[in-house]
Amino acid sequence: MSMPQPEPVDHCAYLPAAMDPSALSLNENPFPPLPSVQSALVEALGSANRYPEFLPLRMRSLLAAQLGVRDEQVVIGAGATGVILQVLQALTQPGDAIVLTTPTFDGYPIFAQMARLRSVTVPLDVHGHHDLDAMADAARTARVVVLCRPHNPTGTIEPVADVERFLARVDPGTTVLLDEAYVEFLSPAERIDARSLVLRFPNVVVVRTFSKAYGLAGLRIGYGFCAPELGRRLWNMQLPFGIGVTGLVAAAACYRAEDELQHRIRIIGAERRRLRAQLSKLGVYSTDARANFIYLPGGRPWREAFDSAGLRVRHYADGGARVTVGTRQSTRAVLAAVSTAALR
Ligand SMILES: Cc1ncc(COP(=O)(O)O)c(C=O)c1O
Repeated sequence: MSMPQPEPVDHCAYLPAAMDPSALSLNENPFPPLPSVQSALVEALGSANRYPEFLPLRMRSLLAAQLGVRDEQVVIGAGATGVILQVLQALTQPGDAIVLTTPTFDGYPIFAQMARLRSVTVPLDVHGHHDLDAMADAARTARVVVLCRPHNPTGTIEPVADVERFLARVDPGTTVLLDEAYVEFLSPAERIDARSLVLRFPNVVVVRTFSKAYGLAGLRIGYGFCAPELGRRLWNMQLPFGIGVTGLVAAAACYRAEDELQHRIRIIGAERRRLRAQLSKLGVYSTDARANFIYLPGGRPWREAFDSAGLRVRHYADGGARVTVGTRQSTRAVLAAVSTAALR
């Protein structure tokens, strides 16, 4: 008797749609990769039978040149996620403490658990800002402290001078993860000079990603940079053949298309400002978000409003909601959903 053959599955049918105005829960970029980036990727796929570099040296040089730092200051991972895990694996022991804010990016409690760390949480204030003094106090007995700038989910940024004061208070033996996953959405005046910061504070690792402003979340490309000595320690944890062949070409193609990408970033920023201004007209408070999302604190029936509008946003236990900024179509749908909740 012959075995029944499984039905052939069209796995492409399960790929998420590149353009989806309702997909507002993961802070993805609403635009598909630029044609020039897609062509470079197609070319890279032609040699998919070959391994990538044993360690991503070319990618490291590319990123270092772009950042204006030395090669040995850079580490690369499968998204910022991969870099963060690499840092935790290299620098912590099970049972060490990690200071996180609450709420924070959902990944952090998971990474802490994977590295078997003890999470010590410090609440944000009602406007979604950090209590940097309380974080520095908590960091006294911790191995790692995480500061996201802009923060996820509130999108807030702390002033540069406050961040520097905070860093000066943290013991040099405690690593600070300065998570800049959304840094490209900040204006030049809002940014920290991270290149000089890591030299002045050799315990700081700056983490960035191609997932957000560069719109390549599906390719999993992230990087970190820090002082050379720490960089060399982290590079020892670089996974052999760990960065796929598409990473290097996609990153290079993005840097070649910087003007077009900056244009898209400006569109997203303008859409966020428009959304916040319209919310304010509706009498709805949102935190002072500077990235590609907005945050609505709890107190109104956000879940009901967004669910009934068919919009996928990120809900929090206290009733707050984080909404990714998409195209104008998404903005209209969000405003329509919010006005139903605001009227209640
Ligand atoms: C603050 C923050 N850090 C890190 C990440 C991880 O990004 P990725 O692993 O896609 O690079 C995210 C993703 O949402 C984030 O919001």
